Amino acid sequence: MQSEERLLSLLRLQKGYISGKTLAKEIGISTSGISKRIRILRKFGFNIESRHRIGYRIADETNLPLPWELRNVLDTLFVGKDKIIYQLTTHSTQNLAILLAEENPSSDGIVVIAGQQKSGRGRQNRKWVSPKGGIWLSVVLRPRIPTSKITLLSFTAALAVCDAIKKTTQLDPKLRWPNDVTISGKKVAGILIDISMEAERINYAVVGVGINANVDSLEISSNLEKDVKITSLSDELGHDTNILELTKVMLERLEYYYMKLKRCPPCTIIEEWKKNSDILHQKVILMQNNRIIHGVAVDVKNDGSLLVRTDDCDNINVVTSDIRVRY
Ligand code: BTN
Repeated sequence: MQSEERLLSLLRLQKGYISGKTLAKEIGISTSGISKRIRILRKFGFNIESRHRIGYRIADETNLPLPWELRNVLDTLFVGKDKIIYQLTTHSTQNLAILLAEENPSSDGIVVIAGQQKSGRGRQNRKWVSPKGGIWLSVVLRPRIPTSKITLLSFTAALAVCDAIKKTTQLDPKLRWPNDVTISGKKVAGILIDISMEAERINYAVVGVGINANVDSLEISSNLEKDVKITSLSDELGHDTNILELTKVMLERLEYYYMKLKRCPPCTIIEEWKKNSDILHQKVILMQNNRIIHGVAVDVKNDGSLLVRTDDCDNINVVTSDIRVRY
């Protein structure tokens, strides 16, 4: 147990103030060590009051998904069991998770979370603006599945995010192909998957999840992909949401769908995904280089591709990387 965690539990046990001296004695560190750790806890969002010669008292809790808080409530078999890393600021949780996956060849389920990212990455090399208040995290997985199934990992993660938003807010999120989560047609979360593969073997996959939770949509408007409207949970709800609870449920659902991905045929994930999506039978515009094709989304196939019936009555199978889809 880290001393911050120990310090927190002592502060929580105490109804009123507890002196720095007592805390230092209990934890086995100096009183200046206590003040240093109090400063750390304050940075993590805990409101800790201090009174000269009397001591410290917790006035308000944080709802940040700090490792020890998350570990206490997380009901998973392996996701977040081995290691949860939380950084107030990082460049990109995705890049850090990739480093950890490379350094720890047997690690499975490592979770890296950041309060904010300085160089968050989106799909297709876009930047992902990630200020304080959002959920920016990456999970290292080592899927022993046929490589043909790996494209479904992003569908799996999007399902987890959709379930978590549904369960922890009164909102009605939908899935948009290939792997965005939307509310009233506006993007609220995105998924980025990085995969390391050798021949037909997957070494690891890093699932990056970005949820615009308690952020002002205007602050993240530069995440706007062309023609994509953006929103956040707090903008939709009119108040902040509990990030710890949302992160917990999302990681649990991620593990749940990931197990399904491993054990069940691909149609299991795709059928679930379709149930939560509103794009089927919607008009879409496909943009490939300078070509623009109008059509209707007819189906999502078991390999994750989108089947579009064009206005000229052709059937086109759209694979994630080749075409931009506008709704
Ligand atoms: C998208 O373009 O829709 C995907 C966005 C994914 C952003 C997340 S935030 C956590 C993780 N770290 C990153 O740098 N990117 C992903």
